[in-house]
Amino acid sequence: MDHFDQIRADGIETYLDEHQNKELLRFITCGSVDDGKSTLIGRLLYDSKLIYEDQLEALEADSAKVGTQGDKLDLALLVDGLAAEREQGITIDVAYRYFSTKARKFIVADTPGHEQYTRNMVTGASTAEAAIILLDARKGILTQTRRHTYICTLLGIRHLVLAINKMDLVDYSEQVFQETEAAYKELAKSLGAGDVTCIPVSALEGENVTNASDKMPWYDGKSLMQVLETMPIDDLDTTRPFRMPVQWVNRPSADFRGFSGFIPSGAVHVGDAITVEPSGKQSTIKSIHGPTGECDSARAGQSVTLCFDDEIDASRGDIIAAQAGAPKSADQFRATIVWMHEEPMLPGRSYIMKIGAKIVPVTLAEPRHKVNVNTFEELPAPTLELNDIGVTNIHLDHAIAFDPYGENRQTGGFVIIDRITNDTVGAGLLDFALWRSDNVKWQDLDVDKNARAAAKSQKPCVVWFTGLSGSGKSTIANVLETKLHAAGKHTYLLDGDNVRHGLNKDLGFTDADRVENIRRVTEVSRLMTDAGLLVMVSFISPFRSERRMARDAMAEGEFIEVFVDTPLEEAERRDVKGLYAKARAGEIKNFTGIDSPYEEPLSPDVHIETTKCTVEDAADQIMAELRSRGRLD
Ligand code: ADX
Repeated sequence: MDHFDQIRADGIETYLDEHQNKELLRFITCGSVDDGKSTLIGRLLYDSKLIYEDQLEALEADSAKVGTQGDKLDLALLVDGLAAEREQGITIDVAYRYFSTKARKFIVADTPGHEQYTRNMVTGASTAEAAIILLDARKGILTQTRRHTYICTLLGIRHLVLAINKMDLVDYSEQVFQETEAAYKELAKSLGAGDVTCIPVSALEGENVTNASDKMPWYDGKSLMQVLETMPIDDLDTTRPFRMPVQWVNRPSADFRGFSGFIPSGAVHVGDAITVEPSGKQSTIKSIHGPTGECDSARAGQSVTLCFDDEIDASRGDIIAAQAGAPKSADQFRATIVWMHEEPMLPGRSYIMKIGAKIVPVTLAEPRHKVNVNTFEELPAPTLELNDIGVTNIHLDHAIAFDPYGENRQTGGFVIIDRITNDTVGAGLLDFALWRSDNVKWQDLDVDKNARAAAKSQKPCVVWFTGLSGSGKSTIANVLETKLHAAGKHTYLLDGDNVRHGLNKDLGFTDADRVENIRRVTEVSRLMTDAGLLVMVSFISPFRSERRMARDAMAEGEFIEVFVDTPLEEAERRDVKGLYAKARAGEIKNFTGIDSPYEEPLSPDVHIETTKCTVEDAADQIMAELRSRGRLD
């Protein structure tokens, strides 16, 4: 009986009710077009009878026009819907498709199989409970099969289904099946995979896809659809510890305060003892509110609002957990990272980590190694490039509650976002916490920043000069400092060349070294504002991201970005230090503006065009800005 027959027989209300309560299984399909992946998914959709009449008509017309199956329907066309894909003959992005049977609802993530689409596959795999890994019976286990299995296992997919396809082309040979099955189980075991089911199928002929095949009487296992309909869904296992990251503090009126979110694991009941991490505050569940009203309990897979007995605080991103088996908190981790952006990872750069509903600045150390996803070999790597998978230590600005990814994908998986572009540049899995920060506690001091600044009768700030080498930063900063000094202010000028003689003498001019250069000078200038000084920083500081990081490190209003705007031709014409000539002659590598980038500020606080004003004018322009911010009072 298809969906429409069922609606006719039982009525729409009953159908919708049943449908609402069906379990949802998310799975991913891995394989290439040649393995018959689109045909297989097309057949699952077709056999689940979730295709509307107009789609069927389009399929018939398309099959006749561009189909590859003669008079028969070309089911792959149901899936390869995009014209571009059809032309190229490959599947290009992650496509999520939905279908359902009487037993379950399904969301299938269909990702391209090629290595250059590793990031797409990781995206699809990160939310999947099961993977169908497809191979061509004639070819057996290929490099891509190894890669797909590795990625699925890495991303915590515990149920692997190997669909040995095109059995019709090997005469439905039991021997081929058995040999492939044995080899695959060996591979899966070596990768520490969960359970593995191997099924001989012919997607094209529909053998063992939905129904048992009579062409392969030697196979007594389940058909693919039966496996999908009956496999356990780990996320719904309520014996796992209860977790709920707070998405939203729900406060419609003064007398209601609840915490809303999605429960990724475990179950919660009224009266349960809970803790809010990372603060460690404890309470008891007073009430639980679901979509249809108040309830006594809730479990994984549901979105609810929880109210506590006491007025304890929880904010967005905190994790509400059962007191028994609560998650730990830490700010340094070993993590596995998948890089997803064309711009390589920059060790030392401050990115944004989004873990659950929490947002926290993160820096990634130089990778310990990256993994060859085809051979699983560990290789040394100074950075991670697009589609690379590597292991590195990461440092967060503050502690978060977490679980290792292997124990909980929602509270142990994260994405990495670029501060400036807001692009998702990577995804990561928390492997374990590094506890070394645990013994270093923040020491509160009696004399604070305000007291130090008051003693000097001034309001501290950082004037941050950025611009090309030879643009005039240091010259202008020098005149500015003289003026401030004359006005009785306590100042310090941090100059790139000078700091590189001492604190930063170990750093060169690679992107990573420049990032570290700016990180250190940011720390120093922050300490100096804490000491109550007016600080001038004169560093090329070529990257927007690090300048943003510096701004974020200072108190509101205490960071003044000055763009010393001298066109490259002019800086090169002046060539005060003779460095441009050397760079052009190839004697200096990675020279800013020549073979190393300079990212101009988009909205500096002060914009100085050195070709249009004198040094004196420039310094006055900054003095005016300082005055308008009350820094000269
Ligand atoms: S930054 O890019 O890391 O901010 P910083 O301001 O510390 O640079 O140092 C720049 C100074 O180092 C330049 O003014 C120049 O005198 C010198 N220098 C030497 N090599 C380079 C290079 N490859 N690129 C830029 N500056 C260089």
